Amino acid sequence: MKKFQVISLFPEMFTGVFESSMMWKAQRDEIVQLSTINLRTFGIGPRQQVDDTPYGGGDGMLLKPEPLFAAVEEAKKNDPTAKVVLMTPRGQRWKQSVAQNWSEAEHGYIFICGRYEGYDERIVSLVDEQVSVGDYVLTGGELPAMTIIDSIVRLIPGVLGGEDSAAIESFSDGETLEFPQYTKPSEYNGLAVPDVLLSGNHAAIAQWRADNSFKAE
Ligand code: ADE
Repeated sequence: MKKFQVISLFPEMFTGVFESSMMWKAQRDEIVQLSTINLRTFGIGPRQQVDDTPYGGGDGMLLKPEPLFAAVEEAKKNDPTAKVVLMTPRGQRWKQSVAQNWSEAEHGYIFICGRYEGYDERIVSLVDEQVSVGDYVLTGGELPAMTIIDSIVRLIPGVLGGEDSAAIESFSDGETLEFPQYTKPSEYNGLAVPDVLLSGNHAAIAQWRADNSFKAE
């Protein structure tokens, strides 16, 4: 069972996402194990301090190295071969082909969610991969981690229902996004489903879908 562990100061952010829909089902079916580690648990002193002021001055607080090193050590105890991933806008841009590779990996993953002001650079020495979800800055790595975990888990064989809907849909061939689809009724408020889709002509339908697939950039 593939393990995804997330180190975060806000583990409660993950409950709705991990306990719903496809990710809930993947855990129920024992295909994946999703868990969070509260970084605060490894905070220092009576106030469980996790951040501190930057050397050299400047605004804001940085995540201290010791709690993060301790949290990663704990996560590695649970899953010694796991790869450590740091969520950061400075990382490699996430994309579908990487999600596919990671869904096929034998090992698990440990995600470190930073906070907006930053982290002590020494934590990079713990990390196998740095990943960004796009060229914009979020308040923390939690939403990116959820996005990335979702995109991986749904590609693991057995997670989506019987049919290979993950394989035929958007991006899977690296070039095309999915084609427009319609369900009943065949006409709604004067808006009709294209005739070819009602024709039963499978070759014509396949051609129409190919012609109407959205092209990725
Ligand atoms: N943390 C803050 N912004 C981020 C981004 N765009 N990608 C990954 N982690 C982040």
